[in-house]
Amino acid sequence: MDYLTRHTILKYGRSVLCSEEFRSTFSQVHHYSTTVGDHLLGVTAEAVKQCRARGLTDDDTLKTVVLAALCHDIGIMGRRKKYRNDAECLIRHPLDSVRAYIRITGEADERVIDSIKCHMFPLKPAVPKYKAGWILTVADKICSVNEKFGKSPVTEEDRKELLIPG
Ligand SMILES: [Fe+2]
Ligand SMILES: [Fe+2]
Repeated sequence: MDYLTRHTILKYGRSVLCSEEFRSTFSQVHHYSTTVGDHLLGVTAEAVKQCRARGLTDDDTLKTVVLAALCHDIGIMGRRKKYRNDAECLIRHPLDSVRAYIRITGEADERVIDSIKCHMFPLKPAVPKYKAGWILTVADKICSVNEKFGKSPVTEEDRKELLIPG
């Protein structure tokens, strides 16, 4: 991940990155080869890259995208205990992630909420209303495929730089 991407993630996502809840996501395996936490960081980096490629670099858009991407799968934590099967997980984890976003940040931005709620499109047929939601959906798919082929979304250095204390 390049310096500008890390800087952008830290600038808009500090409240999430510093939270206990986000830090706990590195303890659960995701897509066979990674953890939920690494996936969240990888998707956020990819989403920031996608924004830059499309000239979507205003504060408002970047903040929306970073917060939505960092939180989009937090609700999947504890999936084996919470959900009876994969179908239930598919339907419920975006809504549980919305609750996590509100709990962690104390904010309830409609664009962030819709983007998280719709990130499983088209597997779950809730269509994103906002650009940020489309960016997140694309970034999530790119990272998920890479992870299934064993490509780690982040490096040890990315983790060290982004998970600074407090
Ligand atoms: Fe997801
Ligand atoms: Fe995801």
